[in-house]
Amino acid sequence: MCGIVGYIGHRQAYPVVLKGLKRLEYRGYDSSGVALIDDGLRVFKKKGKVSELEEATIGQNLSGQIGIGHTRWATHGEPSDRNAHPHVSALGKLAMIHNGIIENYASIKEELQNKGYTFKSDTDTEVLLNFIEDIKENNGCSLEEALRIALKRVVGAYCILLVDCNDPHTLLAARKGSPLVIGIGKGEHFLASDASPIIEYTKEVVYVNDYQIAIVKADELILKNLGNERQTPFITKLDMELAAIEKGGYDHFMLKEIYEQPSTIHDCLRGRLKPDVNQIIMGGVDVNLDQLSKAARIMIVACGTSWHAGLVAEYLIEELCRIPVEVEYASEFRYRNPVINPGDVIIAISQSGETADTLVALENAKEKGAIIFGVVNAVGSSIARLSHAGAYTHSGPEIGVASTKAFTGQLAVLSMMALKIAQAKGTISPERFSHLLQELAAIPAKVAKILEDTTGIEAIAKKYKDARDFLFLGRGYNFPVALEGALKLKEISYIHAEGYPAAEMKHGPIALVDDKLPVLFVATKDRYYDKIVSNVQEIKARKGRVICLATEGDTIIPSMADDVMFVPDADEVLAPMLSVVPLQLLSYYTGLALGLDVDKPRNLAKSVTVE
Ligand code: M6R
Repeated sequence: MCGIVGYIGHRQAYPVVLKGLKRLEYRGYDSSGVALIDDGLRVFKKKGKVSELEEATIGQNLSGQIGIGHTRWATHGEPSDRNAHPHVSALGKLAMIHNGIIENYASIKEELQNKGYTFKSDTDTEVLLNFIEDIKENNGCSLEEALRIALKRVVGAYCILLVDCNDPHTLLAARKGSPLVIGIGKGEHFLASDASPIIEYTKEVVYVNDYQIAIVKADELILKNLGNERQTPFITKLDMELAAIEKGGYDHFMLKEIYEQPSTIHDCLRGRLKPDVNQIIMGGVDVNLDQLSKAARIMIVACGTSWHAGLVAEYLIEELCRIPVEVEYASEFRYRNPVINPGDVIIAISQSGETADTLVALENAKEKGAIIFGVVNAVGSSIARLSHAGAYTHSGPEIGVASTKAFTGQLAVLSMMALKIAQAKGTISPERFSHLLQELAAIPAKVAKILEDTTGIEAIAKKYKDARDFLFLGRGYNFPVALEGALKLKEISYIHAEGYPAAEMKHGPIALVDDKLPVLFVATKDRYYDKIVSNVQEIKARKGRVICLATEGDTIIPSMADDVMFVPDADEVLAPMLSVVPLQLLSYYTGLALGLDVDKPRNLAKSVTVE
């Protein structure tokens, strides 16, 4: 949520910062801005996409070898030029960008107002900036010291970059709860919310930790804690290629990422799944296998699509491992004072590894002695680092705001985990274990088959694009898939969509059914097949418009549906990795048919780093 970029070095900062903002635009895109220091401070800000900022800066003096840039997802104050970052301090000397929320900004603002301060924006960021300047001026201290004093008063989350027009050789940065990566170049440093603006220039990076302040010069990086003690920067090497964050010939990142799934699932399984020797090797699981298999219960904590992956895992773990599982929305789990005992196992699922609700829920649980197992995509992210152990999904950078390949990667990891635990506990027969290993190995090729011809799905999207509402129904393992299908459609096409267990439909939602409502059944061949056939009949009897996702070769379900999409046959416990793919495509093509920006849907941001 909000993208942050900074540069200091021998290059002109503006092109580096602007390119970085374009790469980070998926994090927020309601306004953007840059601040440059050369012979003074120059700030350019614009409501709208980064391209509008770029246009607004044509013909301007954009020189300077130090610069900061921001792409915003509004929290305090509507999207507008004046609420866009960077903000400039009252004395006009400092400029700052911020990702996060300063929760006690109102009381600080009141303090400053009592001293005569006025504010140009509605943001919490401008309040913090003036607070820092006020401390600096009144205490006669350095900006670094003023920043430290101010941050000790701050409640909330932040990643900030701060520059002073009187010191064009220093960029200050600080983080708590919102991510910050610093790229180390030769005589230059790059700062960003994630590594995507950096990899083009260097692969050596430092992940800044919570409560650290970075004092960044062209050829020096100093990290300190809020107690002014120096801390050694830990340099890691990025394992990412530039191509991974470019569209690679596709019209949209979402489509590229849907099409990447055969290879991303394969990458996730590679080196872990060994059907030929009937084995699964997962470092993080192996060393904690005893703890995982002896767990009296497992809690899964996540948000959004990752929460849906957690629901699939609940079915998997309970069925295969016979361990009770609770799947929690991180935001609820965090605040409802859950019972957590030392040694409890929590599986945290997150694509970005930076989701604020999940992160803070885990911090609280960790303090109470829970063992945190992270299923995370973004390498080196906050949740990955907070976890005691874990398994990366290896899906590569996911840029489209709608999560697609991360979901199937999460399912692949969670399936392998469940199988490993079940094997260790002896709750799965050797025959079923080896059958599921073979089935899992076949998933990438089956996803590729779905993607071979998507014209039918595109036609269905065009036919139903003007629907006002949509119902997605499924049973068993396909229930979370129905939820995910509804979430995708809402996000990308803005059509109101609900996901329900198919049997639950008659306890209320069936009242919505008329000859206008499209009802999509995830009705693949599984143990619930006969039941779902009855549910389809119930909708038909009420003249609903029925779309079915069926198993190739099935003739009964297609004969009942107005429209049908097919997936290859698979064991039902692994089927969600297939059935979700046509639903991802359906939402993509619906958004496209409606002329919407599928990569940057309104009001959304990729990484939700505020609560
Ligand atoms: O990065 P995370 O997996 O923690 O993100 C969780 C949700 O914010 C995310 O899945 C969101 O629901 C997506 N927009 C879904 O497409």
